Amino acid sequence: MQFKKIQIRNKGNVTQEMNLTFVCFLVVEDDCPYQPPVMCHHNGPSLCFLIPEFWGDIANDFYWKSKHTGQFMDYNFDVTKGEIYIKCMEGATTNICYNVLDCNVHERGLGDKVAFYWEGNEPGDEMTVTYRELLQQVCQFANVLKSQGVKKGDRVSIYMPMVVELVVAMLACVRIGAVHSIVFAGFSAESLCERILDSQCSLLITADGFYRGDKLINLKVIADDALQKCRDKSFPVQRCIMLKHLSKEVEVPWNPEVDQCWLSLLSGVSEECEPEWCDSEDPLFILYTSGSTGKPKGVLHTIGGYMLYVATTFKLVFDYHPEDVYWCTADIGWITGHSYITYGPLANGATSVLFEGLPTYPDVSRMWEIVDKYQVTKFYTAPTAIRLLMKYGSEPVQKYKRDSLKVLGTVGEPINPEAWQWYYSVVGEKRCPVVDTFWQTETGGHVLTPLPAATPMKPGSATFPFFGVVPAILNESGEELEGPSEGYLVFKQPWPGVMRTVFGNHQRFETTYFEQFPGYYVTGDGCCRDKDGYYWITGRIDDMLNVSGHLLSTAEVESALVEHEAVVEAAVVSRPHPVKGESLYCFVTLTEGVSFSRTLEAQLKKQVREKIGAIATPDFIQNAPGLPKTRSGKIMRRVLRKIARNERDLGDVSTLADSSVIELLFQNHCCGAM
Ligand code: WT7
Repeated sequence: MQFKKIQIRNKGNVTQEMNLTFVCFLVVEDDCPYQPPVMCHHNGPSLCFLIPEFWGDIANDFYWKSKHTGQFMDYNFDVTKGEIYIKCMEGATTNICYNVLDCNVHERGLGDKVAFYWEGNEPGDEMTVTYRELLQQVCQFANVLKSQGVKKGDRVSIYMPMVVELVVAMLACVRIGAVHSIVFAGFSAESLCERILDSQCSLLITADGFYRGDKLINLKVIADDALQKCRDKSFPVQRCIMLKHLSKEVEVPWNPEVDQCWLSLLSGVSEECEPEWCDSEDPLFILYTSGSTGKPKGVLHTIGGYMLYVATTFKLVFDYHPEDVYWCTADIGWITGHSYITYGPLANGATSVLFEGLPTYPDVSRMWEIVDKYQVTKFYTAPTAIRLLMKYGSEPVQKYKRDSLKVLGTVGEPINPEAWQWYYSVVGEKRCPVVDTFWQTETGGHVLTPLPAATPMKPGSATFPFFGVVPAILNESGEELEGPSEGYLVFKQPWPGVMRTVFGNHQRFETTYFEQFPGYYVTGDGCCRDKDGYYWITGRIDDMLNVSGHLLSTAEVESALVEHEAVVEAAVVSRPHPVKGESLYCFVTLTEGVSFSRTLEAQLKKQVREKIGAIATPDFIQNAPGLPKTRSGKIMRRVLRKIARNERDLGDVSTLADSSVIELLFQNHCCGAM
């Protein structure tokens, strides 16, 4: 794919109605020695007319068993005109596993190329897997899945640590047309059960356990607990496959009617498996993300559009070259891992590091040690990890050379300029452009992002939309704002990788993303556009919290708290946190006669951890004899956010029903000024 082609085509095809802007050439910043081959600046391109050409050209690089029948892309983004839908290359048949493995091995001669350098939690624990080996393992496991009765369209739940077999399991599913639903291994039994039930999974794939730093997580015990909870709700999952990952023997619960061992299932199974040819619009995977009503939403992505989108964003945003060694530190249990550990890099035939451990184990130099060990060229992490490491200063970083690094990426939450500067200056020694990529589980891939060194950077800004993405900023009344402005970040048209529905609840898909402002996809984020047209994400403007780059809904945490018998009402707000970005500050009103104590506080924290997972553990729990409410009974979260921050300028509180609670809440405050 040549950018020149797009630029030429762009000219002359510009029409007023379609709001096409421009793509112009740009000189790389002087102080940045890195020269990318892609010399263009995407200052808000609206490739409306060009979408079929742009993505059509890209689609030609992939294998399709048969061609699409209708339009290249077809959609309705306007609820007032009927049902919302997005379709890309409908009628075309393909297989994503075939594209990311077979094509690389058999057509591009990459069989012996390393797909993953697996680096375990414990230094020295390592393994290399080539494209050919990965293909063999995937085919073999795909045959195992078939023999277990898994068929096209069936959902399979995967609850595993960061091991190569996790990638094998996901690709084996998609090879036979099954839909994976990966649940991050930090989630609780209750959360796993909820996700299995919602997606009606026929099979669960898990492991015996793993170490996070020096802490052992008995995954199978949690998985069993989840399966029991499913049975209690009359949904008996018939099969569970367990990978033995721990080197030492740990006792795992075993139910011979349900459980089978990964390794023993493989014996004698063929390493050849014809892929199942699927429609471009057939489901690829479900991934749950927090919903503001409390119940997680099963975000559904389909095959063709997602494949084109993650492959292309990976290639351009990280300026991928065949000799690169790429490392994304995310967990595959999140969308970042799906798109930019598994599908995007493999579609490009890239070599990646797959890291099981933590940035701080056994010490805070681990990341840079790994960078040097594998000569990592492109590195992708989260602001929370940067802030965490920043606390220890530059010495642990400078112990290692890092001279292989070329591009640094960040994702998950707004990056504060201090962390950006540290990343750019200390980690990258001002040699490496930083790509601040804004996107969501729902968007499938990057939507606002710089292209390395082609886009002049502004620390803290995700800069401009990716090709074909058309953002807008709306005010409260849904009017599009022009020029420098602040408001709701929305998108005016789909791109191939956007989600298609909420699994089993299309209504919820429409309500959540399309109802507030008909004609637009609503991100839920606030955004600022400056005089140069740069976009700056200001954070969520719905009832969501972003803790260490992970979204949580306040409602979800509140309902976990009120399930405790001592709590009658709970309200959760965010309080800024130096490392995690945001932390959970919880107000609880207790049942008559119960008094607040350290023990109760610990119980409540445990309760939330058990209901949701460790990432949702409250940071602060405050006794709230009363909550600030309006006369109509609505909790005034705005006021609670101020109290959590110990800020006394509450703004307008005239709608408050009983203002005496405010003083009481300030008195009971958990901690001092920030
Ligand atoms: C929310 C989506 C996309 C993978 C990880 C999170 C926030 C994400 C950025 C960024 C500012 C960001 C937004 C978004 N977010 N990236 N570069 N700058 N904010 O996926 O769990 O679906 O969360 O993360 O608030 O809506 P997710």
